Amino acid sequence: YDSAIELVKAQLNIFDNEFSMRFQRNPIHNIESRIKTPQSIVGKLQRKEMPVTPESARNNLTDIAGVRVICCYIDYAIADLLTDHSAFQLRKIKDYIKHPKPNGYRSFHMILDVPVYMSNGKEIAPVEIQIRTIAMDFWASLEHQLRYKSTGDSKIAESLTGELKDCSETIADIDQKMQDMFKKINLL
Ligand code: GTP
Ligand code: MG
Repeated sequence: YDSAIELVKAQLNIFDNEFSMRFQRNPIHNIESRIKTPQSIVGKLQRKEMPVTPESARNNLTDIAGVRVICCYIDYAIADLLTDHSAFQLRKIKDYIKHPKPNGYRSFHMILDVPVYMSNGKEIAPVEIQIRTIAMDFWASLEHQLRYKSTGDSKIAESLTGELKDCSETIADIDQKMQDMFKKINLL
């Protein structure tokens, strides 16, 4: 899983370098990655009422390896290039940018099967890739905090949920405006 993450990150950096040279722009602001902890793998298998074994984790979980690509602007170029990449097999796409979740969550998700060549043969590891803008990432981290802390006062949590939803719409509007300005600046 770690090597699959490294391969995806290397490919993302290749795209970013190429865009920087050919078009004088860096589509990627920064990349984060993580491997799901054993505790969190066990927790998820138990929640899904699946056997808690390494085989079961391998067969049933597609988010053990995760890569988050944070971009300055909404940019489908990176997603399209990864989709077309002949070494990576596209397993699933969820476009929460075109279709935000009811809570206001926005991001483009994809699961890619990544081949890792080792001394004793090829292993395929799924990698969950989340592509989002800086603003969407800012929103998601606050929403994540609320979700893990909302065991207290439910009235406050409810009103914060509404405020977050409003923020999500404001952010989408700002993302659009910034993108339009970026295009105009490039025309100058
Ligand atoms: P999980 O079982 O939670 O992984 O969800 P899923 O299999 O339905 O996949 P989905 O693509 O909806 O979500 C995968 C990941 O996206 C989550 O583990 C989170 O990292 C992120 N995500 C999805 N929805 C939300 C959300 O509402 N808020 C935040 N902060 N993150 C989200
Ligand atoms: Mg997950």
